[in-house]
Amino acid sequence: MYTIFEPTSKDEFNKYLILRWRLLRFPWGAKKGSEIDDMEGVSIHRAIKDRKGQLVAVGRIHFINQNAQIRYMAVQNSHRKKGLGTKLILELEKIALINKIKMVFLNSRENAIEFYRKNGYSTICETDSSFGNIIHYRMEKNLDN
Ligand SMILES: CC(C)(COP(=O)(O)OP(=O)(O)OC[C@H]1O[C@@H](n2cnc3c(N)ncnc32)[C@H](O)[C@@H]1OP(=O)(O)O)[C@@H](O)C(=O)NCCC(=O)NCCS
Repeated sequence: MYTIFEPTSKDEFNKYLILRWRLLRFPWGAKKGSEIDDMEGVSIHRAIKDRKGQLVAVGRIHFINQNAQIRYMAVQNSHRKKGLGTKLILELEKIALINKIKMVFLNSRENAIEFYRKNGYSTICETDSSFGNIIHYRMEKNLDN
């Protein structure tokens, strides 16, 4: 059983950032702190915990004008391909819809393109790397389709 929630306490938010760092930065040798940007305070954060209360997935959304950007989506290796990434992205899109956002975009790493495609995102173009030398692709989804 998995529960999706907003990490609100200091302890929960710390664990959320540690998992983000461990899955999206540490494998590339990036230091702790590299997983944080200047939009954290205006972003909406979601995490998933397993039945033992262990954090297994993280993701974030923030709004830019009338659009929204999803960032830092990651599911712990042993919990992948069980629908958790989809659960998370649907929750973030629900938040966008509640805020009357019609278009969500993200910069996907090559390995995640198929996951986002299966969740209704179209590849637009190659985009600037938001981290290291990893190639990213801008992907978009219109929520009113
Ligand atoms: C990308 C990621 C978030 C997907 O999470 P997940 O929980 O495994 O995804 P889901 O189980 O919801 O998968 C939904 C569908 O996408 C497919 N899928 C998921 N990851 C995939 C991948 N890497 N390559 C191809 N297909 C993938 C699943 O097989 C499933 O297909 P189905 O509906 O036909 O069964 C996860 O693999 C991850 O954390 N990757 C490493 C970090 C990362 O690259 N994050 C994205 C940064 S842009």
